Amino acid sequence: TIQKIHAREILDSRGNPTVEVDIVLQDGTKARAAVPSGASTGKYEAFELRDRDPKRYGGKGVLTAVTNVNGDIANALIGLDAGDQKLIDLTMIELDGTPNKGRLGANAILGVSMAAARAAAQANGLQLYEYLSEDRRYLLPVPMMNVMNGGVHAQWQGADFQEYMIAPLGAPNFRTALQWGAETYRALQKTLQKKGYPTAVGDEGGFAPKVASNEEPLELITLAIEEAGYQPGKDIAISLDPASSGFYHYGQYELKREQKALTPEDMIKYYQMLVENYSIISIEDGLAEEDWTGWKMLTKELGDRIELIGDDIFVTSPALVKRGIKEGIANSVLIKLNQIGTVTETLETMQLAKSAGWGLNVSHRSGETVDSFISDFTVATRAGKLKTGAPSRGERIEKYNQLLRIEEELGNRAVYAGRKAFVRG
Ligand code: PGA
Ligand code: ZN
Repeated sequence: TIQKIHAREILDSRGNPTVEVDIVLQDGTKARAAVPSGASTGKYEAFELRDRDPKRYGGKGVLTAVTNVNGDIANALIGLDAGDQKLIDLTMIELDGTPNKGRLGANAILGVSMAAARAAAQANGLQLYEYLSEDRRYLLPVPMMNVMNGGVHAQWQGADFQEYMIAPLGAPNFRTALQWGAETYRALQKTLQKKGYPTAVGDEGGFAPKVASNEEPLELITLAIEEAGYQPGKDIAISLDPASSGFYHYGQYELKREQKALTPEDMIKYYQMLVENYSIISIEDGLAEEDWTGWKMLTKELGDRIELIGDDIFVTSPALVKRGIKEGIANSVLIKLNQIGTVTETLETMQLAKSAGWGLNVSHRSGETVDSFISDFTVATRAGKLKTGAPSRGERIEKYNQLLRIEEELGNRAVYAGRKAFVRG
């Protein structure tokens, strides 16, 4: 049973405050979890409570969320069984009393939700991935490595598209996939240097040069894959997250790099051209969160060829995913625990998507800590794909390293998701 809950304000990878929670159980077990934070957030994400005190961290302090954990939430949860995740999460949801966790803060609630899971795992002598699994069947995910950053993750100094990822889906196991990805990342650095591009990195560790077009990174990445000795498409495929809500204005997609504004129809044609010419296996947020009509067309045009992942449009919400399934929007969902705010609701969303035959993609946020909860979570839920940045920056690397440890521990019980993890593999 939970004896003590204590939160504190720590920093994330952008130097912004975030919430860290410690939980102590009666038997002496101690566990900790830290909450990530996005920059290109969906409009309907659960509420991230910030102090709005301009004198501290430009208003981004989280002392109110910390106080909510140490006061209201601790009072409600002390004495409960840490292993009853549903009861813990539902208690917090009720205590909050708003539809978007706006009173206590999703950052306060999620920190406790994750720390409780970790404490229960430890108390039972289990690894987190074992504890979170329902049937002790595990799947090591394809690492979706974001090797070129643009959009808001590069302060709009690079491509308009936010993320260019490589997916080493042809590898025989996770550690080899990671190796192929890291080698390609190094090859890409050389390719960029040859072109005279700077190789400083963006928020998620990918390179972020001022490219000539949104297509150019696809050429450079394809070259780098070959340079590293792999076959584009067969060994390593490419995935895009344009995060297009960020450049959608008044019904049009404004591509600054190309000095044009496209209608949803033209944007879809643009994607068709890219899919035709490059080894693209999935596109996330190809269209904006408000553009449900565009999304429907996009799904009709490309849904039987590639995986179409909804991030901003679904914000890991069971209700929105349900609507998407019903209306024929997308065929896959991005999963971010802090978009919805509890472990229990996240699992519910994943269950829904799974039963519709959709793909699952667990994801970090652009503002991260070294907490690797999502690595264990992805293996346990058999989601098959984890996007957690480039093989660069400690907070990204830690997630990949945790997967290496899990694969090693599982030994010959470790199964690598590979190509089959994609809905249109
Ligand atoms: P964010 O970006 O964490 O800044 O929201 C990630 C994404 O769009 O997938
Ligand atoms: Zn996204």
